[in-house]
Amino acid sequence: MSTGRVRVLVADDEEPLVSLLCTMLNDLGYETSPVYGGLEALSALANGRYDVVITDLVMPDVDGLTVLRRCKECPGPVEAIVLTGQDDVETAVACMKAGAYDFLTKPFRLDNVASVVGKAAAKVQADEENRHLRDTLYASQRTLMNALDAKDTYTCSHCVNVARLALSFCDHLGLSPEVRDAIRKAGELHDVGKIGIADHILNKPGRLTGPEYEEMKRHPVIGKRIVDPLGVFGVEGDLLYYHHERWDGRGYPDGLSGDTIPLVARVLAVVDVFDALTSDRPYRAALALDEALRLIEAGIGSQFDPAVGRAFLEFLEAEPELIAPPAALADEPGSYADEPMAVSAGPAAGSSLQD
Ligand SMILES: [Fe+2]
Repeated sequence: MSTGRVRVLVADDEEPLVSLLCTMLNDLGYETSPVYGGLEALSALANGRYDVVITDLVMPDVDGLTVLRRCKECPGPVEAIVLTGQDDVETAVACMKAGAYDFLTKPFRLDNVASVVGKAAAKVQADEENRHLRDTLYASQRTLMNALDAKDTYTCSHCVNVARLALSFCDHLGLSPEVRDAIRKAGELHDVGKIGIADHILNKPGRLTGPEYEEMKRHPVIGKRIVDPLGVFGVEGDLLYYHHERWDGRGYPDGLSGDTIPLVARVLAVVDVFDALTSDRPYRAALALDEALRLIEAGIGSQFDPAVGRAFLEFLEAEPELIAPPAALADEPGSYADEPMAVSAGPAAGSSLQD
């Protein structure tokens, strides 16, 4: 539609009415296709692409409600306007509830028809533009993930695993669509800021020094800065920026505590740590599942939101098939980067259970 005229399908069993509407709409610059019944309308929808459909409600073969439902199954955005007699208004309202853009009662004024078709066409165009923007955003995310993969394959696959598990956890918790959407859109990007961290720190096979750990702690800030120009990150930005905050206020970058930390970050934090613990890292092999769960439990109320942490353990118990097969605990030397005291010979300065 953005490159051509608005295509309008006009379906009614009254041929003079179809002819009148098409003439009027053609004069206004629309590209019209007349059909004379519900069956013809269904056939046209199966074989062509339309932006706006005007359909009579009561037709002898197939009714307008069926045509409306078929419009909703079309792959691209299409808006349906229902024509109805005065005594069909209740049914027309039912059509609106089923997704019709508007309805017009017969007899109608042609300028009203023109106005409603114009608004429906504008909505289709806006929907198409939004879809294009979403596609562009998705492509931008893939580009960032490819860049992260080129820099650090572990971090890239870790981000994908965390996003997958966090989304299932989100569904288990029944969280708001806003939080779910943020995890779906930005979970894979949560560590994108590691693009800005030096390779010798990211891949160091031993414990980080204090200055190295301070450098690593910059990745949430860098990540937020990387995605900011995309301009559509609200809760998603919180996810990137706050996923290393701790319930007890000892996290970073801002040292927030308790429920001042955005919920999306509290949810991601526990999944993030679990995946890191159960993955091979440059400085240690993956922990056994029991050990990882024990460490998560130990972090409840200090590192993790108590309600979220307990729910996560219940979630893993209820859906064990979502856990990647745990690797055996390896005989690693006791020197690890960015790990808790319980796992390593000693944490880097200020470190927590984290990735
Ligand atoms: Fe991180």
